[in-house]
Amino acid sequence: VTEEKHISCQYLSMTLLLNCCEGDILFLLDSSGSVSNYEFSHLLQFTASLLQPFSLGRGHVRVGLLQVDTSPKLEFGLDVHSDQESLQNALRRVRQLQGDTNTEAALRVAQRLLRETEGLPKVLLWLTDGVQPGDVDQPMSELKAEGVSVLAVSTVHANYQVLQRAVTPPLESHLYSVDIEDIEIITEDLREAIIKIIQAERLRVAHVTSHSAVLQWRPLLSAASGYYDLQYKSLWWTGSDARRILPGDSSWVELTNLHPDTTYTASLRPESNQRLFNTLSVNFTTLSVVSVSDAGPRQILVTWGSLQPAQVQRYTVEYGAIPSGPVHTVTLHGQQNSTILTGLEPGTQYLVTVSALHVNGRERAMSVRACTKEASLPALVDLHLTPGHHQDVQVEWRAHQEDLKGFWLTWERDDSINSSSKPSISSTYLPPTFHFTHLAPSSRVCVSPVYSSGRGDGICCTAERPAGCLS
Ligand SMILES: *[C@@H]1O[C@H](CO)[C@@H](O)[C@H](O)[C@H]1NC(C)=O
Ligand SMILES: *[C@@H]1O[C@H](CO)[C@@H](O)[C@H](O)[C@H]1NC(C)=O
Ligand SMILES: *[C@@H]1O[C@H](CO)[C@@H](O)[C@H](O)[C@H]1NC(C)=O
Repeated sequence: VTEEKHISCQYLSMTLLLNCCEGDILFLLDSSGSVSNYEFSHLLQFTASLLQPFSLGRGHVRVGLLQVDTSPKLEFGLDVHSDQESLQNALRRVRQLQGDTNTEAALRVAQRLLRETEGLPKVLLWLTDGVQPGDVDQPMSELKAEGVSVLAVSTVHANYQVLQRAVTPPLESHLYSVDIEDIEIITEDLREAIIKIIQAERLRVAHVTSHSAVLQWRPLLSAASGYYDLQYKSLWWTGSDARRILPGDSSWVELTNLHPDTTYTASLRPESNQRLFNTLSVNFTTLSVVSVSDAGPRQILVTWGSLQPAQVQRYTVEYGAIPSGPVHTVTLHGQQNSTILTGLEPGTQYLVTVSALHVNGRERAMSVRACTKEASLPALVDLHLTPGHHQDVQVEWRAHQEDLKGFWLTWERDDSINSSSKPSISSTYLPPTFHFTHLAPSSRVCVSPVYSSGRGDGICCTAERPAGCLS
């Protein structure tokens, strides 16, 4: 409604430009003597109104006009017109040639012109009276093989089969047979058919995370010619509407502070005082978040993004050891966003799936893999050194008694003073009742507790005399 108002009040001479498309349209216009003057000028008017809404130029729609006659005449090439005014003026200046209908020769020129750009959709629009179309099967097949969409409008109901073979399917939207007086009635349909072929993604979501999204668009403005008005909101959250004004030379924006697992709709309106552009819009859904933290040997904390509580009836958290452990289920109310899973096996990988059941019956699930910690065994509680009676050092230690199977002792003599000694590293296993030993001074000793499930962390130090522990 606002756009229409703008057109009628503020920009009287401006019509809305369709910023929809990128591609080449080459018109193949029958200019031979079999076409009446009346017909010819109607075809040109038709062409003018068909093209009128498109934004022109590189990055948009490029239009060329090739006249079919005894020898083809390129009225204007694809790179000539980059605005509607210049295109519309050029169409008014086209004069009929009145020679023979040498469509084959014109098609060879068309092939050459359309080959120039790679990767963009191409349309050959053949405007003909259908009289003496010539042997066009071969060149038309070649064009189609090169990816050109061939569309045709015929004003005399003749040689329908040639046209049928020439156009790219579907015939319903790509081939039109109309009386020249009524030709305007096909304008919309044909334009729609062309748009379908050359439609380009003008605004796209280049990247999305749980809390952000990057939107990208084809540049339309410059810093001097206008600005972009971007608005976005969640389709669920009321009051989440946000708006950004972006400079005319920008072509992307990052939206942050978004909610996870939420669908947003964004619209980008290019505001220019020279042209009127249509608003682009795109929908996207942020990623869901389930994260795992505070993993212990027997428990993990599962947290998920705060979805709109009002939308979620309840959460179901399912978890099971990978690959084949039994699956356990916890059900939580819709306001909750975390839970601690307990009773897990140490050193085990779990698959945790959080499903949100929405009030509207929709269900969304998000999964994460999590590992519990290895069961860590109690470390040695204390290692204590006191001077012995025979120039030695007494080493004492303490450990948790539960499940204790013994101690593992290693010691190493400092050989710097006696290089001819025996191998200096020794180790021994002592029963759990042992709590002390004697060592020569300057030995380095390590004691670790041994449990049925493994060895706990030990304590090491160097026995000095007078006794002290240099670890
Ligand atoms: C975005 O979603 C809304 C609501 O489902 C829909 O009406 C609209 O057409 C969508 N827009 C686009 C660009 O897909
Ligand atoms: C979870 O909910 C609490 C309040 O209930 C909120 O403070 C916290 O930010 C939420 N956490 C996440 C990750 O959404
Ligand atoms: C060095 O080691 C040898 C053999 O182990 C021993 O007989 C000798 O007394 C030691 N010397 C010193 C200075 O400790």
